[in-house]
Amino acid sequence: MNRILEALNVEDLRLLAERRLPSFLFQYVETGHGDGSGVARNVEGFAKHLMLARCLQKVVPPDTSRTIFGHRYDLPFGISAVGAMGMFHPSADRYLAEVARDFNIPFILSGMSTMSIDDIAHIAPDHVWYQLYAPRDFAITKQMMAQARNAGVDVLVVSVDYPVPNHSEIPLRTGVSLTGGINWRKGPAIAVDLLRHPGWLAKFLANGGVPAMESWKPYAPPGSNAAGISKFIGGAWPANLVWTDIEKIRALWPGKLVIKGLLDPSDVAQAYETGADAVTLSNHGGNKLDILPASVDCLAGAKHMVPDAAPLFFDGGIRRGSDILKAAALGADFCFLGRAFLYGVSASGKAGAERVATILRNELSYAQAMLGCADLQSVDQRLLFTASSVHTR
Ligand SMILES: Cc1cc2nc3c(=O)[nH]c(=O)nc-3n(C[C@H](O)[C@H](O)[C@H](O)COP(=O)(O)O)c2cc1C
Repeated sequence: MNRILEALNVEDLRLLAERRLPSFLFQYVETGHGDGSGVARNVEGFAKHLMLARCLQKVVPPDTSRTIFGHRYDLPFGISAVGAMGMFHPSADRYLAEVARDFNIPFILSGMSTMSIDDIAHIAPDHVWYQLYAPRDFAITKQMMAQARNAGVDVLVVSVDYPVPNHSEIPLRTGVSLTGGINWRKGPAIAVDLLRHPGWLAKFLANGGVPAMESWKPYAPPGSNAAGISKFIGGAWPANLVWTDIEKIRALWPGKLVIKGLLDPSDVAQAYETGADAVTLSNHGGNKLDILPASVDCLAGAKHMVPDAAPLFFDGGIRRGSDILKAAALGADFCFLGRAFLYGVSASGKAGAERVATILRNELSYAQAMLGCADLQSVDQRLLFTASSVHTR
């Protein structure tokens, strides 16, 4: 616990997560497709943006709240969907839902979760959103949506950025794939890796080993174990979704609909035209393809396509509270973080996730006050520093 309180920023938590997790898991988190440059590019994308501070403004206390879909959240960020969380900590999804409730922020449960939406939604009925990874069989998609709705979910986030299976070199190198199992030829190296991380290993074994993808369990053949469910997913997902699928999903979903994973401005425009209530501008945390631009570099172009009253969400590369202000200035109404919370929960369960939320909240409100912004409505592109903009306020 004390070790966690000594973590001063998300990077400190990242290092703690690295110490606790087996290398095959940590590498999986850190490296996306190909040369892995997409992950770093997202983070570095924020560094070039600087902001101008206005003084003599009434800023105490800074109001960090944001209202999205009629809900006033205390902070302008939420916890993004991360699959197979149970590998990182057996109770990760439950802890994240509790942290979301306690900090009054949204938590998106992944469509590849190791806890079911039925078990998570009731922990924080006003804060849990559900992310859908649509299977190829639309009948199952319908059932997944009905399951989420029956669990009380109002906000459905449809991830549309994997038309084909994820191709990462890391599982091939380490011999451990979260969906494809273990390459036993790498067994000795995996064993050494595990023995070097006894804390993680003890929890993993105490929890019965590889957790099942509970979000898919109702749709896999009855009686399937964790490996059987993963095999089923491998044959049933991903679907190559097209716009007419979004129309069908929109017609079926009575709540709020978010389309996650767009970068191209014309896609963003089409998503709203197709009935999305919001779009999450995202390159999947840099995981999916190593030649994509940083998410933050796509914000300004996307913002032009957003209808006036509609919100634009953003994720990718946020590691500081001040990054959230930069994203807000570039047009993001609300931000999500994947790895930051993953590091926290991996490092120390619920205390780690709470630490992430606390760090980000403190960094955000400090930077907001220092910039002279009483509330987030006053954070806009005029705060971004460019040599010419200094004179055009
Ligand atoms: C290990 C890992 C697993 C992820 N799993 C999912 C997932 O199941 N569904 C999804 O929509 N996005 C998933 N994402 C993407 C995140 O929701 C989010 O877009 C991304 O992490 C944001 O970038 P950041 O990690 O730099 O904050 C995953 C990301 C990571 C790193």
